[in-house]
Amino acid sequence: MKKWKPNRTEFYETAVAMGFYGRDDGGLSGKKDNVRKFWEDVFVKLLCRNFMENQAPGDRKLRILDLGCGSGEGFELLTHIPSSPYAKGNPRDFVLKPGDIESYTGIDISPSMISQGRANYKDLGNVKFEYGNLEDGLPQAVLRDTPFDIYFSTYGSLSHLHPEALQLLLEQLFKHSANGSVLLFDTHGKYSPSWPKYWAETKTMLPYTMAYLVPGDKRKEENVEWFNLCYWDVEELKALLTKSAKNAGVELNLLYMLDRSIYVGRHMDTGLLSGKAMPLRYQVNRLLDHGYRGEVEHLRVDLSHLETYKKGIDKKIWERLVDYQRKWNKLIYLLEALMNSEDAKVKNFIENTDIELMSDDLKFITWLYRNNDRFPVVDFWASIIGPQIAVILRNMEMSYPEGVGCGHGLLCAIEIIK
Ligand SMILES: C[S@@+](CC[C@H](N)C(=O)[O-])C[C@H]1O[C@@H](n2cnc3c(N)ncnc32)[C@H](O)[C@@H]1O
Repeated sequence: MKKWKPNRTEFYETAVAMGFYGRDDGGLSGKKDNVRKFWEDVFVKLLCRNFMENQAPGDRKLRILDLGCGSGEGFELLTHIPSSPYAKGNPRDFVLKPGDIESYTGIDISPSMISQGRANYKDLGNVKFEYGNLEDGLPQAVLRDTPFDIYFSTYGSLSHLHPEALQLLLEQLFKHSANGSVLLFDTHGKYSPSWPKYWAETKTMLPYTMAYLVPGDKRKEENVEWFNLCYWDVEELKALLTKSAKNAGVELNLLYMLDRSIYVGRHMDTGLLSGKAMPLRYQVNRLLDHGYRGEVEHLRVDLSHLETYKKGIDKKIWERLVDYQRKWNKLIYLLEALMNSEDAKVKNFIENTDIELMSDDLKFITWLYRNNDRFPVVDFWASIIGPQIAVILRNMEMSYPEGVGCGHGLLCAIEIIK
């Protein structure tokens, strides 16, 4: 019989070494926080779904090129787009499975990102990562390859490029594409409330930092690293696209250009580029977490500190900011009234609300509240109301049909016609 060893810990040693026992603050902060997963990624996924479902996976496998791919986040995102609810009889969780992709090629300038991407997807033969500096255009190996169905780039990779380099890259890409290929990318929007200091700037490349990944109490000004990015005005970006298309001899069908993360951009919370930290992203991260209740006093959007900057921007951009602020704050007002059980206030509010678009959502929230005892959860506010409030705030942002450049991200989808 084997001797009983009382103090065996090797499994735990391994688990600790692999990081499983580190502190986990869930999705409240960090690169893949709740806002990234349930707001920003969902924003991209829903827009991709619009045209992906028409591509009927199964008929033909897709070829995807990801520009500034990091460690393959784009592959993860594209293979986790929820199927439409109306696709009855289609039990697929996701529109596109890894097997529906003929090839995914990721290009990045960072050797560490490339190594990490290769390690992440070492078991998938249709996924590859190549080193490339997009300032020099597409790598030769890519240019020799057959056209891609989707030219993809997310989370600001193309904002790293100077406009002249971006123009050349787009010309190459348009020439390389096939009729019907889609270009889906984002850049940083110039008129985000996260960086009003840039609204009237005429310089092309302006400083940016990823210091938001360091928790506020540990962030020291001298340790903040800055690098330059291009923050894009909508009209200037459209002009650049038009010029690149003309030079490449193609036509473009602009499917959409939308503002993403208007009030939940990472730098809303740091205040590093606005002079006023407003931890709205942190608060929305809390709403989306099933363990935290909404802190209404910190969830209101206040634009008063931006008044001095507004003369530097087009009127329609300011109007968009104010319109979204008004809708946002109305919802938070309702949340507060519900939390305080102020029934008369709620009733009056619902009946007299002047925002048609929102009234169904507001009624729905009120219905949830009135039926709270039907939900078998421990904390109704944290598990049911909070996530729904966050989703409505996100959907309000997504409901604007045309971006004006006031989001942290400016998301574009274009069909290339040859
Ligand atoms: C914010 S990350 C986005 C990564 C990834 N697309 C994602 O969704 O998380 C920006 C990426 O662009 C890459 N990048 C920056 N400048 C580049 C260049 N000139 N050529 C190629 N990649 C570049 C960086 O190395 C980094 O991986």
